[in-house]
Amino acid sequence: MKNLVALIVLLFLSSCASDILRGDRVTLRNAASFPIGTAASYSQLNTDDSIRAIILKEFNSITPENDMKMYSVMPRSNEFRWEVVDSIVAFCARNDMRLFGHALVWHSSTPRWLTEAGHDSVSLSTFLEEYVTAYVSRYKGVVDGWDVVNEAVTDSAGTLRQTFWYNMLGESYIDQAFIAAHEADPNAILFLNDYNIERDTVKMNATIDLINRLKSRGVPISGIGLQMHTRMDIPNEIIAYSLRKAAETGLQVHLSEVDIIFNRHNDRQGEGEQIYNELTSEMAQEQGEKYMNIADMYRGIVPKDQQYGITLWGFNDRTTWIRPFFKLNDWPAIYDDNLQRKPAFYGLLNGVMD
Ligand code: G3I
Repeated sequence: MKNLVALIVLLFLSSCASDILRGDRVTLRNAASFPIGTAASYSQLNTDDSIRAIILKEFNSITPENDMKMYSVMPRSNEFRWEVVDSIVAFCARNDMRLFGHALVWHSSTPRWLTEAGHDSVSLSTFLEEYVTAYVSRYKGVVDGWDVVNEAVTDSAGTLRQTFWYNMLGESYIDQAFIAAHEADPNAILFLNDYNIERDTVKMNATIDLINRLKSRGVPISGIGLQMHTRMDIPNEIIAYSLRKAAETGLQVHLSEVDIIFNRHNDRQGEGEQIYNELTSEMAQEQGEKYMNIADMYRGIVPKDQQYGITLWGFNDRTTWIRPFFKLNDWPAIYDDNLQRKPAFYGLLNGVMD
């Protein structure tokens, strides 16, 4: 019944009526009781006026999409480049927005110079500690939370992912990164972040097991991030199960990279499977409902004091990472190619309201 009512409200909001909503007076950041974020790049914030205006209007949290990754801040051996991050820090401070740091340790953002540097486990461990310490201390009290370790768990298996970091240091690389980050900024919220854990229950259970091991060793983890790059056909029941598992950890829960696609891919670059070639208005409405369901479940399942927020991995179809990354024509975001609000926007808006 609640779903039916919500759907009617959604159709009403997205199709015609509310002058207030149409007039842009109700925005995501004003409607939600928790932070609402988007991924954004330095260049979008600094050079794209229309995108910047919408970001300022709708969001109160920013995750730099690629600009805080290791390949961006340390493109060459032991040489930090802070300028871009400093500029994003200043942008967030000027506009009273939360800055979320993404990501300290991630196999996919580890620069080649590092993997080819000939480290042994002792020298790599020293590098990791010094890198995390220098980075997190520089932005102490400024970056609110960090994805400390990103994508540590294997898909559909109960194991840790065999990455450069794991192969060199074993599970202890995770402990080291969290401990160094916590020592550098004891107030920062420190996340383990991963993809597909809203749908891959084996992977989610392995993530929970990892969190339990970290806790039992006294590792200062304070958050779990569900990236939530999800798909229209992922059942709400499975997403609800995953949110319950996440909430049961007692950690902060961040939906950290939300978008919803219609087509498929196998998570590998360039390997999209084009099933739908165009977005019909019916599909757009269904996507609105899915955004609403996800936000609704987040509010309903995750206790208020664990709601770190919902962050979109880009808010519009024009600049979504999905298209270039998977070579896929899709419409995963809440604003369209012309930077207009989609039914997905109204669904999310409805879902985040108490
Ligand atoms: O900047 C170069 C450009 O000069 C070149 O012409 C072009 C050709 O491929 O590549 C451009 O670099 C791309 C970069 O994004 C900037 O657009 C890289 O190839 C591409 O691999 C990189 O992809 C990013 C990816 O992480 C890897 O870092 C995506 O933008 C970004 O959205 C994605 O974000 C990740 C999260 O960090 C972690 N969770 C999954 C999420 C999606 O994969």
